[in-house]
Amino acid sequence: MPFRVPGAPRWRVVLASLLLALAPAPPALAAAQGPVERPAAPAVDAPLGRPKGAAIASANAQATDAGMAVLRAGGNAFDAAVAVSAALGLVEPESSGLGGGGFFLLRRASDGKVVFVDARERAPLAATRDMYLDPATGEPRPRQTIDGALAAAIPGLPAGLVHVSATYGRMPLGEALAPVIRLAERGWRFGDKNIAMMGWRKDVLRDDPGASALFLIDGEVPAAGTRMRNRDYADVLRRLAAEGHDGFYRGPVAQRLVDGVRAAGGIWTLEDLAQYRVVERAPLVFTHRGQTVVTAPPPSSGGVALAATLQILDGYDWAAEAPVDRLHLRIEAMRRAYRDRAIFLGDPDFVDVPVELLTHPAYAAGLRASISTERATPSALLPGVTRSERPDTTHFSIVDAEGNIAAVTQTVNLPYGNAMVVPGTGFLLNNEMDDFSVKPGVPNAFGLVGEDANAIAPGKRPLSSMTPTIVIGMDRVAVVGTPGGSRIISMVIQGLLALDAGASAAEAVAEPRVHHQYLPDEVSIEPGALDAATRAALEARGHVVKEEPRTWGNMQVVLWHRDDGRVEAGADPRWKTVGKGSTDEGGIFR
Ligand code: DON
Repeated sequence: MPFRVPGAPRWRVVLASLLLALAPAPPALAAAQGPVERPAAPAVDAPLGRPKGAAIASANAQATDAGMAVLRAGGNAFDAAVAVSAALGLVEPESSGLGGGGFFLLRRASDGKVVFVDARERAPLAATRDMYLDPATGEPRPRQTIDGALAAAIPGLPAGLVHVSATYGRMPLGEALAPVIRLAERGWRFGDKNIAMMGWRKDVLRDDPGASALFLIDGEVPAAGTRMRNRDYADVLRRLAAEGHDGFYRGPVAQRLVDGVRAAGGIWTLEDLAQYRVVERAPLVFTHRGQTVVTAPPPSSGGVALAATLQILDGYDWAAEAPVDRLHLRIEAMRRAYRDRAIFLGDPDFVDVPVELLTHPAYAAGLRASISTERATPSALLPGVTRSERPDTTHFSIVDAEGNIAAVTQTVNLPYGNAMVVPGTGFLLNNEMDDFSVKPGVPNAFGLVGEDANAIAPGKRPLSSMTPTIVIGMDRVAVVGTPGGSRIISMVIQGLLALDAGASAAEAVAEPRVHHQYLPDEVSIEPGALDAATRAALEARGHVVKEEPRTWGNMQVVLWHRDDGRVEAGADPRWKTVGKGSTDEGGIFR
């Protein structure tokens, strides 16, 4: 595979990376080995047979049930994905919705076609590179990328629903949306996760008349179990069903949105909405331990970082490494992959992203050679960046009884997005503008730094970490993803390694999490994730280990065992009974 040479301005950094990657390891550090022999991986479009039934795992039981209802009514996995997506936007408004965006990674059983439907938000046409910087100080103005109208990019999810339904679904959009429209009108149940996330955002929601009318009761957070009706949401879905794309992006909904955003100080125009289109992209595909991994290409950084990390690790005899050595190597691999993310990744329609180079096994081998088995490499020693999360988002995984697959991660960014509802629309707007690098080297809400590749430009998509992923093995297919901002990538890496080691869907989503993102230069762990001896061993190698006060992520995994057709659905247990994995083996959906 030829390397693609990126544009001249980044030559210096590219060169530095190559030097790092290709530098021979000092003898004392020699840990890298040649790639370990692996069995051949299945072709991405290989016939996979049929599962015994369907499976859906999502972050909210009401959404999983809506998807199952659509399968029962004769829809395929893509119709179900439309239903689950729209339902999550309703019942998990803190995480995603019609005012946000998402990525739909699909695999069609009939011909093995894989496609990445990029329904990511775009910067408004009036956006400028320095729009969040105070001209007097040159520093970012606090909270402008987070709260209110200026934080919102142009939504993509409605276009994604229409496109996925029309191109890959089997039933009319109105039928796929019917259970969600019913739920919006009859009322959905407010739950523990809605409440917990609202704790972060209550004051900002209260300040917005549209949001407080929709979500608060007398200015307060509703109690668990409160029935929430949302007729405006049902109306917008009906309009989408009747008019398709234009039902949202032109006409009264578009006009209402633009008027509302501009009245609140935003910069949207009707042209922004009229111009919005989803982009069908080729998924990123690589092999890992005899499996074909199909994952998110830019403007997600997730697939590139996943490919780099797993291919670095594939050069070790993983099964023979001691657990603490595996952890050390995983951290070092992630440090290098996240560094490349910060430098090179951005919207491929605007910048030349050297994907082939960054995901090439030879490049991974070079990075591997720079890893010491004995010592942590301080991030500051890796060349390239001028200096140095709290989440919300959601993921769901679907396999239908024919073997169609949907892995979907969607978001409004931080909990309850920008905390603004344009009255009459029924949904929150996003604060995805915070995913841009508003100033080189200045960390965003997830502590992520970036450079020119992810600078703001009119119509550009902000770099994402969302990593919906399908792993096709000889014996098993896995559908994986999670929210968690910058931590999404490390969670998917960990999830895939757990599955490699034989974990069930339920075990893979439950595993205590360990994260490193290059900067800040620390290993962040969930409460109790490491025992004292492991922690001490990492610290002895120079790692700074930080135990976080809270858990993170909300991983949803579906497994399909190809030998006997069994399916499993694992919903992350961190939110106890809020999420739901459902399967129907040999039942009504065949
Ligand atoms: O696209 C991204 O990477 C972020 N907007 C995702 C935010 C997120 O996952 C927050 N979640 N818990």
